[in-house]
Amino acid sequence: MLADHYHDLPARKIAAVVTHLEMHALPPLHRGPEGDWSLRRVVSPDLAWFRALYRRIGENWLWYSRLVMPDADLAAILRSPQVEVYALESEGHDEGLLELDFRTPGDCELAFFGVTAPLIGSGAGRWLMNRALERAWSAPVSRVWVHTCSFDHPSALAFYQRSGFLPFRRQIEIVDDPRLAGILPLTAAPHVPVIGTPR
Ligand SMILES: CC(C)(COP(=O)(O)OP(=O)(O)OC[C@H]1O[C@@H](n2cnc3c(N)ncnc32)[C@H](O)[C@@H]1OP(=O)(O)O)[C@@H](O)C(=O)NCCC(=O)NCCS
Repeated sequence: MLADHYHDLPARKIAAVVTHLEMHALPPLHRGPEGDWSLRRVVSPDLAWFRALYRRIGENWLWYSRLVMPDADLAAILRSPQVEVYALESEGHDEGLLELDFRTPGDCELAFFGVTAPLIGSGAGRWLMNRALERAWSAPVSRVWVHTCSFDHPSALAFYQRSGFLPFRRQIEIVDDPRLAGILPLTAAPHVPVIGTPR
């Protein structure tokens, strides 16, 4: 049992509060602005393409797991017939990422969800969420879930709640700072300041 208090982290580690959210039926979809957006399913994604888009969206939110995952492991996920990867196209460019994971029977996990910095606050996130929910609930599932952490965009948690997800679990995630490990640039995610210097 963890005592109520502040707890020091070991040097070079960072910590996030992770919130898991779920829904059990398709909620009413929010109407948002219509932009020049389209959704493209990417079957058997090229790993370099996937990692480049993942990095462009997620670097500022300290997404790094898919950058360090061995190629064979990433390929096994992305090329699973029960995993669907979609790109949001805006003006002919890939500017959003949606990964739906149906590998657990009855469940759909929004495994990755986000848009690039220029599209944040534009309504593209709402549009992508509507497409995600339509697709997830068109499959034979009884639960759709997602998790977000305090490194993510500060609007993400409230955005998911407005989308119809209810929080059900909270965790602390403690990891090596990926910037000090040389995985992400030291300038990434200034809302989580780097403490220490790279080796
Ligand atoms: C999390 C994230 C998807 C949230 O998206 P967002 O950009 O804040 O959301 P949007 O601008 O699309 O929509 C927010 C609201 O503003 C509204 N809105 C946006 N532009 C609008 C406009 N021009 N006119 C009217 N309403 C507008 C949307 O309709 C929406 O309203 P609603 O939530 O009540 O339905 C986005 O910040 C993101 O991708 N962040 C980076 C990656 C990340 O952190 N992902 C989450 C990790 S799990």
